[in-house]
Parts: sequence; structure tokens; C-alpha cells
Amino acid sequence: TQPYWIAPSILSADFARLGEDVERVLTAGADVVHFDVMDNHYVPNLTFGSMICTALRSYGITAPIDVHLMVEPVDRMIEYFLEAGASIITFHPEASHHIDRSLQLIKSGGAKAGLVFNPATPLHYLDYVMDKVDQVLLMSVNPGFGGQSFIPGTLDKLRLARQKIEQSGRTDIRLEVDGGVNVKNIRAIAEAGADMFVAGSAIFNQPDYKTVIDAMRAELAL
Ligand code: DX5
Ligand code: ZN
Repeated sequence: TQPYWIAPSILSADFARLGEDVERVLTAGADVVHFDVMDNHYVPNLTFGSMICTALRSYGITAPIDVHLMVEPVDRMIEYFLEAGASIITFHPEASHHIDRSLQLIKSGGAKAGLVFNPATPLHYLDYVMDKVDQVLLMSVNPGFGGQSFIPGTLDKLRLARQKIEQSGRTDIRLEVDGGVNVKNIRAIAEAGADMFVAGSAIFNQPDYKTVIDAMRAELAL
């Protein structure tokens, strides 16, 4: 697997001081900034559009921005977030009528492309696009809200996804997990095969970001 990446989700950040808060969590040791983009159509919540990505880039955030599109339709948002400086764009296969084309659209814009699997979504969408995905994101909660509990069945699904990646020979593909990740469960999640960890409330609800990120890294190093 790839070196472990910790990707705080800005869903739980201080939106009144977003630039400063993102800068603080990166200084505290985070690797990637995870954007939870929700449209109140594909998921029952509404967050933000590509202007927030543009704003953070012009604020001076140069770290990778990992855009998780919980939107339908997908393609227009792919274009907007590519223009806004996204580094990774993932979408839910159920939300695109042409999954292969949407993946190619992301890659044609120079970003890494990936698919996101809800807890009950089977992995077989991967079977015909393993040559096109750079990222596989498994939801360990039902999408729409931060602060939910990790669904334990995700561990078996991670092992299955890791097997598919190994079998494809494309060991550069990152396996990301999103939802209810914290210091207590991150080791088991890594042992199941994940190498990228989204955490929103577990990090942003803490008074000191470095303490919790260091604790996560200590668990990953065991
Ligand atoms: C759900 C969101 C959340 C968020 C992580 O749609 O994708 O999973 O990133 O939130 P926490 O870490 O608070 O569960
Ligand atoms: Zn997410």
C-alpha cells in the first residue's frame, strides 16, 4: 500500500474561519484536505460548491484537495472543481449515467479519479474501470452527515477492495475510507487494507489537531 494519508474533512471545520482552520490542520500534520460536496439531491444535505476550492487555493492552500462529490448529475461539478484546482475527484457510480466517461473527464483535467461506494453499494462497478481509477473510496457511514458511527462491516469490504486492487496489479490505486474514523478504529481500518483516512469530527472537534493526528499516526505505526 501507499504511505498513509490523513485527510481531514472540512465538513466539521470552522466555516467562519475556513482558511485559517485548514491551514492549522495542515500544520498539525494532515496530508490532504477532504471536501464533502453535497447537493441536497443525491444526499439529504447541502454544503458548498467549487468556489470554496477556488477560495482556499487563492488563500494559499497548496496541499492536495480531495473532492468527494455527493451530487447528481456529476459531470458539471467535475468541470467546475477541475477549474477550481481540485487534485482528486471522486463520485458515486449511482450518480453518473456514464461512469467511464466521468472518470475520463476527471483525468483529462489532470486530477486523480475515483469511485465512492456507499455501505450497501457492491464493488462490481470497479470490474470494468480498474484501468481508469486512481482512488477507491469506501463509505463507512451513509453519506450526508459528519459525526456518525463507523459501520463495522466496512472492514470486510475493505479487505475485498484491497484484493481487487492487488489483483489488478495497479498497486498505485489508493484505498480511502470515509465516515466515523477515529483514533480507536484507525488501526483496524489500516489492517483491513485502507491507506487513506478521512476524518471530520474526530479531528475538528478536538481542541488540538496535532495531538489527535499524532495519535492517529501512532496507531498506524504499530
Ligand atoms: C458523510 C461525510 C462524512 C465526513 C466524515 O457524507 O463524507 O463521512 O466526511 O465525517 P466524520 O469523520 O465526522 O464521520
Ligand atoms: Zn467524504
